[in-house]
Amino acid sequence: MLVNFKEMLMKAKKENYAVPHLNINNLEWTKYILEKCNELNIPIILGVSEGAAKYMGGFHAIFGMVNGLIEDLNITIPVCLHVDHGSSKETCMKAIDAGFTSVMIDASRYALEENIKITKEVVDYAHARGVSVEAEVGHIGGAEDNIISTITNATLEDCLTLYENTKIDALAPALGSVHGFYKGEPNLDFETMKKISDSLPIPLVLHGGTGIPDDKIKKAISCGICKININTELQSVWSKAVRDYLSENKTVYDPRKIIGSGEAAMKNRIEEIVTLFGTKR
Ligand code: 13P
Repeated sequence: MLVNFKEMLMKAKKENYAVPHLNINNLEWTKYILEKCNELNIPIILGVSEGAAKYMGGFHAIFGMVNGLIEDLNITIPVCLHVDHGSSKETCMKAIDAGFTSVMIDASRYALEENIKITKEVVDYAHARGVSVEAEVGHIGGAEDNIISTITNATLEDCLTLYENTKIDALAPALGSVHGFYKGEPNLDFETMKKISDSLPIPLVLHGGTGIPDDKIKKAISCGICKININTELQSVWSKAVRDYLSENKTVYDPRKIIGSGEAAMKNRIEEIVTLFGTKR
């Protein structure tokens, strides 16, 4: 069933675990993620970046694909279909109108006042339609969809101001994480993370889940992180498996065999992620 993330993340906050947000790129990835999460009986958030939405044809095409897979594969777990880093109110509205159950409005590139104004407009539109909203304070570093950002850490004060003025459903405070692979050890500000979590009634989100060591993931969950976004890591395990398969099967040309050769590696990694996050239904 397609749902927003409110209930699944509030439960995670109460019971101290995290729900995975896994980015999707095509039908096969969506199918593998849904099948594996259904087998593990855990809720899942399917993240769709603007670049991935464009690649797959658009928000309507994705909504139809996800809904169809849920029905045809008898998926019974809660599934949240979420826009990742929506860059404008218009993008978020388009996704909501197409049936997405959740959006992230990322107006973090603007000054706080403007971030609040845009986020609040999205919240008003989304909440009137039962859709959940995530927002970002500070800047998450690294590169995603070829958009490169430098890290600026969020402050407790800015997080409280944004929440009070918008009543978002989840907050991604940038506290040292980056999209893509880390150069060296990630340097996460757990102290501020805990303070923000203790001061807000909503769940926190950790972006840039790829490459964060297991002990730091666990620490982040203990500091209030309830949703962890993973993209690069699944791309990496899938592409390695496909590369290995192609180098051993030089004459294969059936795309189903080529794309499908990454299925087992992806599903195994998803199980490890879910075990690490302690995700429950
Ligand atoms: P990674 O690509 O580093 O896993 O980050 C994913 C993410 O944060 C998506 O919003």
